[in-house]
Amino acid sequence: MFLAHLLRQAGIDAVVLERRDRAYIEDRVRAGLLEQITVELMTRLGLGARMAREGLVHGGVNLAHEGQMFRIDMAAATGSPGMMIYGQQEVMKDLFDGAEALGLNIVFDAEAVQPHDVGADQPSVTWRKDGVEHRLDCEVVVGCDGYHGVSRGCIPDTVLQTFERAYPFGWLGILAEVPPPNHELIYCNHERGFALATMRSATRSRAYVQCGLDERIEDWPDERFWDEFELRLGPEIAAKVVRGPSFEKSIAPLRSFVAEPMRHGRLFLAGDAAHIVPPTGAKGLNLAVSDVIVLAEALGEFFHERSTAGIDSYSARALARVWKAERFSWWFTGLTHRFPETGGLERRLQVAELEYLRTSQAAQTAFAENYVGLPLAQRRAV
Ligand code: DHB
Repeated sequence: MFLAHLLRQAGIDAVVLERRDRAYIEDRVRAGLLEQITVELMTRLGLGARMAREGLVHGGVNLAHEGQMFRIDMAAATGSPGMMIYGQQEVMKDLFDGAEALGLNIVFDAEAVQPHDVGADQPSVTWRKDGVEHRLDCEVVVGCDGYHGVSRGCIPDTVLQTFERAYPFGWLGILAEVPPPNHELIYCNHERGFALATMRSATRSRAYVQCGLDERIEDWPDERFWDEFELRLGPEIAAKVVRGPSFEKSIAPLRSFVAEPMRHGRLFLAGDAAHIVPPTGAKGLNLAVSDVIVLAEALGEFFHERSTAGIDSYSARALARVWKAERFSWWFTGLTHRFPETGGLERRLQVAELEYLRTSQAAQTAFAENYVGLPLAQRRAV
């Protein structure tokens, strides 16, 4: 949807094929932390008004271990305002409202979407809607269809390289209409596993605990969840936890994944279709945004100047940022989670690294610049 808006601004016609309906997407709970790059794009697209009113700007972030907490002042370390708390569902609402106002072409409930002939100059896409088959001949196809989508499969095996790690645990998350224990986020490393206290607003908590991959939601009634959450945060923070009934509860697996290249012929991959990060650090949505910023620029050159320089460098330029975010998300996951294979040595090393982060300004600056989001990679000659 960000790309559809960017292309409209560039005067390029696009059709968005969406498998779900609008209500499903607006109800689907996802992360809620926007990097400045995403905040600025919302504003640039004229979609930032509600975010400016309802979003929460966070200049700091907290890490806790052994019941102790320290704060990293991201704003001071980076000169950036920090992060914006504004749920992905809210972002989607604004994108759809804006799309409606502009008359962008979105086909909801598009089934069996399939790109064809992406290796040639005249690709097409077919889909079915309400039992009727459709076909669109186009100049480029952009696969924004997620990890499980069909687009990546259109790149021949001989061309595509993938890199993957599935983590041996998941995140159990809840939403509850209660104030969070702290006005800023708390990432917590505890012997029993990771916990994260985040929020959607000053009165709506989002809380996560690391859990086993074989755990079932039925085994986690709210009381058990809050007990575990408080235990991991330690007594001082637990005293500020307000419990309330959850209105959403789900378990998500954690994965690091990158597919290279992100372009084949007239097919471009963006977002989760090409890469997955574990959620620690909330990079997923923000990486999809940086992909499409680079891609929209490249497609603008392609359509208006008939130059292929931008599209030829799209994959390398997007991947340069993707890999750095993959590294940070992998590192932050490793620093804060309990790994089943971890023995006493690794645990002590985690504690030492957290202590280093607590006491070193240099380490805090390195953390902060990754957390708030690295700049787009410079163009490189190809
Ligand atoms: C949230 C999710 C994350 O993965 C994270 O690192 C921070 C916040 C969230 O859901 O608010």
